[in-house]
Amino acid sequence: MKQISRNPDTLVAEPLAPGKDLVDLARTALSGDNTSLLRKLADISRHYSGPDQQEVRDQLMRLTKKPLVNLRPLQSAERLPVDAKTRTPLLQPDSDPREPLLLEDGLEEELLLIIEEFSHAEKLAAAGLETNNTLLLYGPPGTGKTHIARHLAQRLGRPLNIVRLDSVISSLLGDTAKNIRALFDFVDGTNTILFLDELDALAKFRDDRKELGELKRVVNTLLQGLDNLGPTSIVIGATNHPDILDPAIWRRFTHNIEVELPSQELRSALWNYYLFSDEAEKRPLQALSVCSSHLSCSDIREISLATKRRAVITGKPIELAQVTAAILASETGKIRRPKASALTTSEMEELAKQLQQRGGLRQVEIGDLLSTTRQHISKLLK
Ligand SMILES: Nc1ncnc2c1ncn2[C@@H]1O[C@H](COP(=O)(O)OP(=O)(O)OP(=O)(O)O)[C@@H](O)[C@H]1O
Ligand SMILES: [Mg+2]
Repeated sequence: MKQISRNPDTLVAEPLAPGKDLVDLARTALSGDNTSLLRKLADISRHYSGPDQQEVRDQLMRLTKKPLVNLRPLQSAERLPVDAKTRTPLLQPDSDPREPLLLEDGLEEELLLIIEEFSHAEKLAAAGLETNNTLLLYGPPGTGKTHIARHLAQRLGRPLNIVRLDSVISSLLGDTAKNIRALFDFVDGTNTILFLDELDALAKFRDDRKELGELKRVVNTLLQGLDNLGPTSIVIGATNHPDILDPAIWRRFTHNIEVELPSQELRSALWNYYLFSDEAEKRPLQALSVCSSHLSCSDIREISLATKRRAVITGKPIELAQVTAAILASETGKIRRPKASALTTSEMEELAKQLQQRGGLRQVEIGDLLSTTRQHISKLLK
C-alpha cells in the first residue's frame, strides 16, 4: 500500500513508467509552468532510490534548486499574441541593447524625465493625476529610435516587445483591427512595453487599399487601445514619416521626441566610440565629424565596424584616408565601405578637394584625415 506523507519531499513513489514520465516531463517543460516542472523533477528523482542511483538522484535534486533563468522566456513566449490564421506572433520580444546610447545635449534630460514619469505611474494615478505612458519617437532612419526604446526598456527594467505594424497589416485582410486589439490586450496589466514600429504604415494602408471602412476600424482600434491603456502600461511608437501620420494618432502620444540626424558633437562621440573604442585623438575626430554631417548614427556605426573588421583581417592599422573616402562616397542609409587598397595620388587629390568644398575643413585638418602634412595638402589643392 502507498504511504502518503504531508511533506512532498517524503512522498513514496509509484513505479516509474519511463515512456509516460518522459512525455509528461516534456509537456510540463514546454508549458512553461515552472512549479509543476520542479514538482515533476522531484517526483522522478525519488524513483532513483537504489544505492547505485544516488548520483542521478542528487543531480536531479540539484537541478530543481537552480535559479530558473532559462524557463522564463519559454513561459512568456507561450503567451505571445498570434495571428489567428497564420499563428505567427504579432510581436517580437526584444533583447537588451549591446551598445551604449550616446545622446544629444538636452535629450538625456528629456528621457530621464520620461523614465521618471513612467516609473511613478501608480503613484501619479493614486494622486488622481491622469497618466498615459506613451511616447512617440520620430525622425529619419538610423537615428536611434529603436535604440532609445531599448535603453528606456532597460532603464525601466521591463521587456520590450516590437510590433512591425506593416507586417501586422499586410498579412491580414480584414483581421487587422482584431490583431491590434490583441496587442493591447497583451500589454494590459503586464509589465511589458509595446513598441509600435513603423506607425506610418497605417497611412500607406489607406493609399494602397482604398478600403476606407476598414482603415477607419483599424485606426479606431489603435486609438481605443491607446485611450484605454492601464496606468502602468507603456506604449512607444516610432515613425520615419511623421508628416503622414494620422493627427488623431499623433495626439494620443503624451510625449514625443524628434530624433534628427546627429549633430557634430554627437557624430564625434559616435566615431570615438564605434571607430576608436573611446581612444581617439582630438583633431582627426573633429575632422571626421565635420565631414560626416550627411550620415546617421547607424551609418557611422556601420562604416566604423566595416573599417575595424578590415583592420583585424589584414592586421594593418586603420587608415583614416580610406575611412574619409568611404564617408564622402556614402549617402544616408546607403553606406560605402572603405576600400581595401591604399588611395592613389589622384584619389588623394580629389578627396582633398572634396573635403575643402564640402566640409570647410582647414588644410591641417585635411592633412590629419589623409595622414599627410599641411604642405602636401596645399600642393594637392593647387
Ligand atoms: N544614439 C546612439 N548611440 C549609439 N548608437 C546608436 C545611436 N543611434 C543608433 N545607434 C546604433 O545604430 C543602430 C541602428 O539604429 P536604430 O535601429 O535604433 O535606428 P532607427 O531610428 O530605429 O532606424 P529605423 O527608422 O530604420 O528603424 C543601433 O542598433 C545602434 O547600434
Ligand atoms: Mg527602428
